[in-house]
Amino acid sequence: MAENYHIPVLLNESIEGLNIADNGIYIDATFGGGGHSRAIVSKLKTGHLFGFDQDSDAKANTIDSENFTFVYHNFAYVKNFMQYYNIPAVDGILADLGVSSHHFDDAQRGFSFRFDAPLDMRMDRSVKKSAYNIINEYDEQELTKIFKMYGEIANARRLAQEIISNRTGAPIKTTDELKKIGQKFCNPQTESKYLSQIFQALRIEVNNEMQALQEFLQGGLSVLRPGGRFVVITYHSLEDRMVKNFFKTGNIEGDVDQDFFGNVKAPFTAVSKKVIVPSNEEIQRNNRARSAKLRIVEKNG
Ligand SMILES: C[S@@+](CC[C@H](N)C(=O)[O-])C[C@H]1O[C@@H](n2cnc3c(N)ncnc32)[C@H](O)[C@@H]1O
Repeated sequence: MAENYHIPVLLNESIEGLNIADNGIYIDATFGGGGHSRAIVSKLKTGHLFGFDQDSDAKANTIDSENFTFVYHNFAYVKNFMQYYNIPAVDGILADLGVSSHHFDDAQRGFSFRFDAPLDMRMDRSVKKSAYNIINEYDEQELTKIFKMYGEIANARRLAQEIISNRTGAPIKTTDELKKIGQKFCNPQTESKYLSQIFQALRIEVNNEMQALQEFLQGGLSVLRPGGRFVVITYHSLEDRMVKNFFKTGNIEGDVDQDFFGNVKAPFTAVSKKVIVPSNEEIQRNNRARSAKLRIVEKNG
């Protein structure tokens, strides 16, 4: 694996949560640096792991094992790919959502306000829409919506208006230009949090993250065998809410479905009653683990 690509978060807890059988079939929906995948493959004898990632950089970390297949695709299509590989059902699915350290640390990708770079933020660089298109082409309403929804930014409309007034003469091309606009709305104490919210909102929109997660959860439910485990690590409240609702009710809104007798129709049973978070020791060792939340469920029969 490329050095410093990514340190896996909640590694032992999530692998334990999968309850791996050495002849089982598993999916790692977010291969990245392959840290979780390597731990899974090390527990397999005749079993198999399919590792998905939509970023071509992740291919370089692939695992040289007959028990492993790298799938260079969006996890939204997990069901289609299991059909393609002739796998009727899998024993466990893991997802460690969002971007990897590699994305933040590779200056040229434009994910971080720590570096000046072209506005990009695409995990999958074969798609057309980048952060540049959003910042320069979305209207005030669309910009306000993404900053409010995905960045939970209080003065989203004023920020959107400032972006639009800055792009009238010439397009906004770089992370530094965007950072300077953001800095007008915060002070040195709040700057890092505020800029992170702007960059997070943009990244979620560029990569269509909430839509992909919804499709993945639905696809995952349909390919998981009864008794199989679904293990998901989230990093912000929007994705955590979606996963929590889905695990409780089978839909992302969290609407409880009842049968004729009033019994709740739940697709899963929680394995860990409470959400699992990293220890202080892990957070000290790996600051990027600080917002992680792990949820583990088992599919009902
Ligand atoms: C947090 S990292 C996973 C790190 C990995 N668990 C490890 O131990 O190295 C998330 C990875 O998922 C990928 N990813 C995010 N959304 C995706 C999607 N919709 N489809 C496929 N891959 C995705 C990213 O490109 C990134 O490499």
